[in-house]
Amino acid sequence: MIRPAEQDDAPQIAAIYRPFCEDSCVSFETEAPGAAEIASRIERVSRRHHWLVDEDDGVIAGYAYASPHRERAAYRWVVEVTIYMHERFRGQGRGRALYAELFERLRRQGIFKAYAGILVPNPASQAFHESMGFTLVGIYKKIGYKLGAWRDVGWWQLALRPEIDFPPEPANPLSMPSEAQP
Ligand SMILES: CC(C)(COP(=O)(O)OP(=O)(O)OC[C@H]1O[C@@H](n2cnc3c(N)ncnc32)[C@H](O)[C@@H]1OP(=O)(O)O)[C@@H](O)C(=O)NCCC(=O)NCCS
Repeated sequence: MIRPAEQDDAPQIAAIYRPFCEDSCVSFETEAPGAAEIASRIERVSRRHHWLVDEDDGVIAGYAYASPHRERAAYRWVVEVTIYMHERFRGQGRGRALYAELFERLRRQGIFKAYAGILVPNPASQAFHESMGFTLVGIYKKIGYKLGAWRDVGWWQLALRPEIDFPPEPANPLSMPSEAQP
């Protein structure tokens, strides 16, 4: 079941995310956030865009969210997207379904483009994003130092809808009808 994240999901989300902070360069965070910090991020992200989870009988199989790409006003029609699936639930089409639902909500909200910043190399994530229609914009060379080496980050983009002149303001996600449904 794909649904908006709730505060009670924070401990499971923190557990999924922790190894990417502590043991890999997939995230550039070096200290894994605890459940309280994740709960506060869910609250903050959900006010502007969307944080979704894929729940399987009480177990969080994965999560995806969209947050502002940059804060300056002219960027407000584009977002940055992030996805993490629990190891046990990868390779089952669940990431694709989670992103598809996120993108549908972003389209309805009035968002035009999604950007993903991916550690390079991360073959699974690169292939996954390209299979979802993302195309490479460019690579920031050696932009982060983690686990004893300088690391590259590639940026991929996906057009969610064709650009128009005078785009309407993005809708408030908390007042979108789908958010109110169970
Ligand atoms: C990347 C990730 C989110 C993909 O989620 P997933 O649920 O395993 O992906 P899906 O099963 O929905 O796969 C959808 C498509 O993505 C591609 N893909 C997914 N995993 C892949 C892999 N390991 N190698 C190559 N292609 C892959 C395939 O094209 C696949 O379509 P197919 O099954 O028809 O071949 C997941 O592997 C993950 O959480 N990885 C660790 C965290 C991470 O790197 N997150 C991204 C940070 S930028």
